[in-house]
Order: sequence, then structure tokens, then C-alpha cells
Amino acid sequence: MTSAPIVPGPVTVRVPAKVNLELLVGPRRDDGYHSLSSVYQALSLYDDVTVGEADEWGVSVSGTLAEGVPTDDDNIALRAARLVADRYDGEPVHVSIRKGIPVAGGMAGGSADAAATLVALDHLWDLGLDREELEEMAAELGSDVPFLVAGGTAMGSGRGEMLAPVLTRGTFHWVLALAEGGLSTPAVYAECDRLREGTDVPEPVATPALMAALRTGDPHELAPQLVNDLQDAAISLRPDLGEVLSDGMEFGALGGVVSGSGPTIAFLVEGTEAGIDLAVALTASGAVRDVRRASGPVHGAHVIHHRVD
Ligand code: C5P
Repeated sequence: MTSAPIVPGPVTVRVPAKVNLELLVGPRRDDGYHSLSSVYQALSLYDDVTVGEADEWGVSVSGTLAEGVPTDDDNIALRAARLVADRYDGEPVHVSIRKGIPVAGGMAGGSADAAATLVALDHLWDLGLDREELEEMAAELGSDVPFLVAGGTAMGSGRGEMLAPVLTRGTFHWVLALAEGGLSTPAVYAECDRLREGTDVPEPVATPALMAALRTGDPHELAPQLVNDLQDAAISLRPDLGEVLSDGMEFGALGGVVSGSGPTIAFLVEGTEAGIDLAVALTASGAVRDVRRASGPVHGAHVIHHRVD
């Protein structure tokens, strides 16, 4: 008697959002990117990405935050799948994304989906990719993608893709203020260049005081270290963000910062209770589209389900 062949079923990977605790933007490079010093933290706000074999290439998106995600070849998760297939001779797959990360919000939702797809295909096709191979493909897809594979807390240099882990203690609690609409990352960088025109922009270097604060695990130490060189540019394009920031501080946040290129604002709070209080106050203010509570650091893209028929 012969047994039925084992068919690899779809793989589901859970991938976190990121916040930049420090985003220092250096000069614009010849390739159009800016040299960065970024300290990323992975937060417990997730997309679930399921990848399975299919007759043709495709992507679908679900969840209340799905609006605005392309479902054609522009989708970065689909581009990730094709990249892996080109290299390792893979057949077409369908990628299903359940969004829990705001779209175009400065929390790397698209990059997260690309990272998840790489990890999912590594399992689906049993490629046994090592960290270096995964990170190399991730960097090709976008500056933030390697971090979403790695997770935790890490420093990114180069254009953000060269990672080094950062030592932290404990868990930090965050409240995220989601804004109506999104901001285009290239537009925010361009506005940053415009605002800094004529000034001498130094090469960015991570701040030792931030690293020390992360090692204490004390949110009171971390709060004053939060900084984002793109914040002025994001507020210049979306002046309402300045008001949300000051509202959040007034309502008891320890610190607040525009996340990446915005428009999401990340508020650091003392703990769970303080997070609930701030979330309620921000919601009641009517100044935000929605709020989410999250904590970090958490793991990067990881398999949560793999069906084998
Ligand atoms: O790397 P990624 O494709 O995610 O970057 C999106 C855009 O953000 C780039 O096209 C560029 O305009 C801007 N960017 C930048 N410098 C970086 C990272 C991103 O100017 N280090």
C-alpha cells in the first residue's frame, strides 16, 4: 500500500509593527536614500500573512484596516513572494493578509507583510534559509524589512537595513494614535530635505543616553529620549498631528513621538492601566481616527500555523 504524498498546506506567519524610538536622518545619499541611525522596537500589533500554493499569483487583504493596500503586482508581499520564487525556482502562490497594522501609518505595515512572506515561503518550500540570506532579500525589498524579520529592539544604520541588536530590559507600554489617511514616506523625506535646505546635516550617530535608558527598563528614563527627525516634516504636511501630540501629553503620556514617517503617533505610558486611561481620553477627544494599545519589544515574523495535508 502506498501512502498519499504529503502536500505542504498554507503557512501563516504573524508579524509585528515597528516604532522608531530614535530616528536620526542624515544627508541624502547619491542613490536618493538618506543615511539613517534608527532604533526600532517591534510592537504587539500584528498582521497575519498566509501563503499557500495556487494556480496563479495573487494577493488578498482583509480586516478593518485593509483599505488602501494594493492587490496587484505593486503589493510588496507579492513582490517578496516573486523574489523568493525567482531565486529558488518556486511555483505561484497566493498571499492572504489580515491587517492589524495601520496602512501608510509609519509603522512599516507593508514592510511587515514582505518580511512575513519571506519567512512563510522559507517554511512552505522548506528552503532552510539562514539569517543572512533572509536579511539580504529583505533589504532588497525595503529599508525596514530586515527589522521586521528580526523583531525585538535593534539599531539600524545605512539606510536602516543594517541591523545590530540593542539590549533592553522589561516591557514598554504604548498607545498608538491612528490618524485619518496616510502619509507617503518619500513625500515626508522630501519635506524634511526642504525644511533643512541650506543647513549642514551631519552623519547620524545613535544616542548613548537612549541605549542607557533602554537598559534600565524604566519608561520615565526612555520617554525624554524619544526623537524623530522626520517629525517636523510630518507635522508640516499634517499640522493636526501637532495637536494630537500635545493632547496626548496633556492626557498623561510620559512621552510621544511621530512613528517613522507618520501619521501614527506613539505615546509611551507607565503601564497597562495608564494605557487604558490615555486610550479612553484620546478617543473621547475626537482628534484621532482610532487608538490601539501595544507593548514591546516582541518577536519578529514567526510561523503560527502550518497545515500539512
Ligand atoms: O526602503 P523603502 O522602500 O521602504 O523606502 C521608501 C522611501 O523612503 C524611499 O523611496 C525614500 O524616498 C525614503 N527613504 C529614504 N531614506 C531611507 C529610507 C527611506 O529617503 N533611509
